[in-house]
Amino acid sequence: MRNSWTLLLLLALSVQSLWAQQVAENDKLAARASNLLSYIAVGYGDAIDKGQIIDTGLYQLQQDHAAEALDLVRKLPDKPGRSALENSMAGLQAALSRREDAEKVRRRANEIADRLAALYQMQRSPAHSLPSASLAAPLFQQRCASCHGRWGQGDGALPDLRDARRMASFSLYDLYNTLDPNVDSVHSERVDGDLNSRQRWALAVTVAAFAVKNQLPPSADLAERYPALISLPGMAVTRPIELPTDARSALLWWRGHPHLIRSLEHPLTRAEGLLSLAETAYRGGDNAGAYHKLMLAYREGYKPLQQSIEMSDRVLYSKLQAQWQTLRREVLSNAPNTDVIASIQNLGTLLGRARARLEPMPGGHISYLWAALLFALALALGVSLWWGLRWRKRSRL
Ligand code: HEC
Repeated sequence: MRNSWTLLLLLALSVQSLWAQQVAENDKLAARASNLLSYIAVGYGDAIDKGQIIDTGLYQLQQDHAAEALDLVRKLPDKPGRSALENSMAGLQAALSRREDAEKVRRRANEIADRLAALYQMQRSPAHSLPSASLAAPLFQQRCASCHGRWGQGDGALPDLRDARRMASFSLYDLYNTLDPNVDSVHSERVDGDLNSRQRWALAVTVAAFAVKNQLPPSADLAERYPALISLPGMAVTRPIELPTDARSALLWWRGHPHLIRSLEHPLTRAEGLLSLAETAYRGGDNAGAYHKLMLAYREGYKPLQQSIEMSDRVLYSKLQAQWQTLRREVLSNAPNTDVIASIQNLGTLLGRARARLEPMPGGHISYLWAALLFALALALGVSLWWGLRWRKRSRL
């Protein structure tokens, strides 16, 4: 009897580990496809200009990348939405064949990469804050400078890592991916085979910093205008080139200096970002990862402002407290995806309300109010004086 229980336990454990292996294998396939798509988005403009081939070898490479990305996606488990994804990938291949405009190809390739990420719950952002560029600067000099140059200048043969336009086409995650030996084949094992994930993120930041070296930081009001871009996952997954001009140059700078802008980040925006990472993890079946991100969101995003929220809006505060509890319970008890996602979205809305509640009333509104009041007073005074004069004139007549 005891033996059969042990057997059953062993069987369950091996099924679980097989399943985990399969998930990891799928993550690699999806990341590889995303890497190829990013090379198409970035490099196609160097191969084709206004419908003309300017680099035959590179053009062929882009077509091979598109075909390989489609093969990889076909190896991923089938699910609703995959055939639509395959269709748009076939559309990309057709666009390449007819030498479509570079900007359109870039958009297509990036859009496909984003859809792939959403469909297969790709983790494209770290949960912990990004390391500073200086952390990996020595590593860059040791491992990378021999080919890419001390400042990323490329020395002719390689792309210039300081080229802001080219770099704007990569998200930080795309850069991170070029250093993953399971994903990218440009670099040999000797270059990146032993790097851990934290080192790769640090190198991605180091590389991102080259394009904005010696540039002044963007003004602080941009951080208020685009809070999601100074938070994760926004900072890691957004390609600056797809943004309006002011946000584009701001993001280029911010992602090269994550340690300098941490103080600009609203803790509740951090909580919202981590919740969205928790959602991706939960959807992908990684419940432990989801729980970790949920706790980080609570500790690093909500906790620092918990008291202020309580003081400014008690009702909202008790709703928030209850919602954190519910979500925690649901994740711990492996509740169905739909319940957890609904709870995460609910919590996100409450956090958004808390953020609006805590924001100070902009000075502009107050002065408008005063101006309006003073104007009304002056008007009333003027009218009464005029009326008084008229009345006196009449009475004298
Ligand atoms: C042995 C030479 C060599 C070394 C060392 C090397 N790289 Fe590269 N790297 C390349 C080549 C070749 C490419 C592909 C260039 C292309 O696509 O035309 C590349 C591409 C890249 C790209 C994509 C750039 C783009 O614009 O397409 C990044 C980012 C990058 N490397 C970062 C690094 C980092 C970080 C290191 C150090 C850990 C490193 N590389 C080490 C040769 C090297």
